[in-house]
Amino acid sequence: MEESKKTKVTAIANGPLMIEGNFIVKGVDGNLLASADKMFLCRCGKSNNKPFCDGSHNR
Ligand code: FES
Repeated sequence: MEESKKTKVTAIANGPLMIEGNFIVKGVDGNLLASADKMFLCRCGKSNNKPFCDGSHNR
């Protein structure tokens, strides 16, 4: 697969994981939570909207 067509996950310093590409996010129940080309997922555990980053890592 062409490198530019691969889904990319980038760790943001002291922040979320940025995901870019063709993907979906499912919750613990298996239901679709989101479908997007770019998204930020919490990796600090402080978000009030997990699994998505809500900026709480800055506080
Ligand atoms: S990484 Fe942003 S709220 Fe956790």
